[in-house]
Amino acid sequence: MAIVTGGAQGLGLEYADRLLRAGARVAVVDVAHEAAVVAAAELGRRCGEDRVLAHTCDVSDETAVAAMVQLVTDSWSGPLILVNNAGGALLPSAPVESFSRAEWDRVLAVNLSGVWLCAKAVVPSMRADGYGKIVNITSTMVSKGWPVGLAPYIAAKAGVVGLTRALAKELGPDGIRVNAIAPGYVPVVTKKAVHKPDAAAALRERIAGEQCLPRTQVPADLAGSIEFLSSADSDFVTGQVLNVDGGWTFG
Ligand SMILES: NC(=O)c1ccc[n+]([C@@H]2O[C@H](COP(=O)([O-])OP(=O)(O)OC[C@H]3O[C@@H](n4cnc5c(N)ncnc54)[C@H](O)[C@@H]3O)[C@@H](O)[C@H]2O)c1
Repeated sequence: MAIVTGGAQGLGLEYADRLLRAGARVAVVDVAHEAAVVAAAELGRRCGEDRVLAHTCDVSDETAVAAMVQLVTDSWSGPLILVNNAGGALLPSAPVESFSRAEWDRVLAVNLSGVWLCAKAVVPSMRADGYGKIVNITSTMVSKGWPVGLAPYIAAKAGVVGLTRALAKELGPDGIRVNAIAPGYVPVVTKKAVHKPDAAAALRERIAGEQCLPRTQVPADLAGSIEFLSSADSDFVTGQVLNVDGGWTFG
């Protein structure tokens, strides 16, 4: 059974779909209630209604996260997979000195604290099983420190890298594998107006040109890595960050 946070739209929906096709039961967890219900209904129609559930939850709300994990583990049994995908830049690109403290805190609350809260909530069940898979989502932008204007987001995603390594080390003896993927730049229809349309197009062109594989990344490019890190095939892989970015970064 898998929990995909931010699973209602964008990349998370692609991950939910892939894990269902790979045989998992999937909880589509999202703060966007309507989108989660619609996504789960569509996935259920294709893959079996009893294999999908929609749950509304803000990953930065500790009480809501604990209730969400309880619901999933009460509903289904079997090894637990957590894909910590909810997040995003959340704010328009802006100079670092223009962000308010509240804006900074919100970006970190969703992108970093949310990852910790979801991990914290699943660990007791994974420990009891002696097995579990946590896949976090960071960003290639951590390696680049770029584009300019996304300081809170890049800082939060850098925190996800550190948290991934800390959790892998601490939870490895309990059989819990913790890895991350770092996507490059993937235009998704739901993407909020982080960049103005002309700036977004220029960014897309520039990044595609800098990659070893010079084309724009699409959501399907990421799904196989999520499936691999969620499956027994990666059972001796932990504490890793896999760049899935067409070779935009090395190392
Ligand atoms: N698209 C990219 O280029 C790219 C690149 C690197 C990393 N990422 C990361 O991948 C993840 C998915 O991004 P996306 O591009 O699909 O974005 P998206 O905006 O299309 O989807 C994000 C989903 O998360 C949900 N969400 C937002 N805040 C939430 C919260 N507090 N609690 C629960 N759900 C919440 C949204 O409702 C939405 O369904 C994010 O973590 C993002 O930072 C995206």
